Amino acid sequence: MAMHAEQFAERYRAGLRTFLDDPGEAQRSQAYELGRQGLAEGLGVLDIAAAHAAALQRVLGAHGRRGLPEALMRGANDFFIECLSPFEMSHRGAREGARAWQRLNEALENEAKRIAHALHDEAGQLLASVHIALADVASGLPPPSRARLQEVRRLLHSIETELRSLSHELRPTVLDRLGLLPALQFLAESVARRAGIRIRVTGEEAGRLPSEVEITLYRIVQEALNNVVRHARAKRASIELRVGPERVSCAIRDNGIGFAPEQMQKGDGLGLTGINERLHALGGSLQIASKPRRGTVLRAEVPRRR
Ligand SMILES: Nc1ncnc2c1ncn2[C@@H]1O[C@H](COP(=O)(O)OP(=O)(O)OP(=O)(O)O)[C@@H](O)[C@H]1O
Ligand SMILES: [Mg+2]
Repeated sequence: MAMHAEQFAERYRAGLRTFLDDPGEAQRSQAYELGRQGLAEGLGVLDIAAAHAAALQRVLGAHGRRGLPEALMRGANDFFIECLSPFEMSHRGAREGARAWQRLNEALENEAKRIAHALHDEAGQLLASVHIALADVASGLPPPSRARLQEVRRLLHSIETELRSLSHELRPTVLDRLGLLPALQFLAESVARRAGIRIRVTGEEAGRLPSEVEITLYRIVQEALNNVVRHARAKRASIELRVGPERVSCAIRDNGIGFAPEQMQKGDGLGLTGINERLHALGGSLQIASKPRRGTVLRAEVPRRR
């Protein structure tokens, strides 16, 4: 049975009365257990505070004008704090979870950076030496064979281009060198070119932001634009970056077919869930406004610093 706030208040009152009569260890652990049940049933700290206030009112009423003796007042405080401690522990757990998620993201970003550099520098260098070796071989060959080698060099060239663009997507060096807004412009240009849609980027240059904020917002826009290309059938999209003294927000809009966010099932896709979790880990949030045939707006917001 769901333990509603009223039923909870009833049990809190009974628990507090028993505790004040006999403030032993067993009663204290009952306060803890009560808090744990409240937490499991979805009650919040404010519900507990309301139950405490109501119970205290009753106890005070029973003591009339004399007021509550100090020992009882202290007992009531102990009971309240004991009952709240499961909430404190769960809050701490959530914070640690967010920190672990943040560290995991940082590790993934570092790994992406390492692979991007290996692709760009090492594989790029190797390909360049293959080019030189082929040119050398070609110069000693009769013209028909030279033409066939030319074809091989053309293929090598397209592999080089592919590798370069892959390494830039894995780790946007523009982001490291110039910051978020130029990186978003660069990203928008390459998505627009590839997908044949118009993407406008607006926003103010506001100096560098903490790197976890920059990379998080960059990855979010990357996923949002992926979704626009894959699902929206839009002709136009826009990215708007706003940097305030306390918070940074980024809105990604498209004029596509839209969807019903409230009908999304858990496990449908990873993109939006991933965005949400990355934002939460930084103390930020995501809003989705979309309706079928009305286009979509994603609004991500994060504190500038923790
Ligand atoms: N801009 C958009 N326009 C229309 N529909 C969208 C848009 N963005 C998301 N959706 C809808 O929301 C769903 C969930 O998006 P999400 O990014 O979470 O998953 P996905 O893109 O399907 O898969 P994944 O991102 O894991 O590859 C999509 O399948 C799509 O139906
Ligand atoms: Mg997606």
